[in-house]
Amino acid sequence: MNNDDLFKPIDTKRTRLRCPRPDDAAVVAKVMTPGISRWLASWPAPMTQQAAATRILKAREEIAVGQALHFLVEHRADNAVMGWICVSRAETLSGVGNLSYWLNEAYHHCGYTTEASLAAVIAAFGRLNLDSMEGGAQVDNVASFAVMRRLGMELCGERIVWASTRCRNELCIFYSMTRDKFVQYQRDGVMPKIVLNRSDA
Ligand SMILES: CC(C)(COP(=O)(O)OP(=O)(O)OC[C@H]1O[C@@H](n2cnc3c(N)ncnc32)[C@H](O)[C@@H]1OP(=O)(O)O)[C@@H](O)C(=O)NCCC(=O)NCCS
Repeated sequence: MNNDDLFKPIDTKRTRLRCPRPDDAAVVAKVMTPGISRWLASWPAPMTQQAAATRILKAREEIAVGQALHFLVEHRADNAVMGWICVSRAETLSGVGNLSYWLNEAYHHCGYTTEASLAAVIAAFGRLNLDSMEGGAQVDNVASFAVMRRLGMELCGERIVWASTRCRNELCIFYSMTRDKFVQYQRDGVMPKIVLNRSDA
């Protein structure tokens, strides 16, 4: 099985965002608890190692063809797996990206997702050459909305999303931002300054 990274890891102060590897399947399956899954449309819990392995292979295919960036988030202090962040094109060749994330419950509420997502968003705008990014969450997912607002995203509407893990439609609220708004948000000093580059972030 090929465990080579498809892109160089990105370090933030406390986290490392790296390419998901087939060898991660067991730990990804283990940390995907019902408490996280209930907020996600397509990550079931319990999750088998086989299901995680299949998901990782699909993620790597999407990275390879430029359809998405998937990041396995590690705790830099001890290399523990913290979670997963994805920015995927809404459609093939689309300039609109969909942001999603989850974090191992042991690390919640310490600012890790905000920190890691900022790096992921910068990388995605650059490497996927996106014009805008959006993210949606169930109407009562206050933590997710707080993360999106921290990134500079603004409320843009609501729509129904099919949640395959629960086999039902769910109403979700969406936030979005254009690339220009994100750059301006950074420039205004609301978030840490990191250079955003279209070809390589
Ligand atoms: C959403 C999630 C990734 C947030 O991760 P996190 O690392 O705890 O978030 P942060 O610590 O960066 O916090 C960001 C903001 O959310 C707020 N927040 C975090 N957890 C919260 C909670 N349980 N209740 C209320 N606010 C919360 C923080 O106070 C912070 O707000 P602030 O910037 O106004 O201070 C995490 O709760 C999670 O994995 N949830 C399950 C999966 C999920 O919901 N994914 C998103 C689906 S679209």
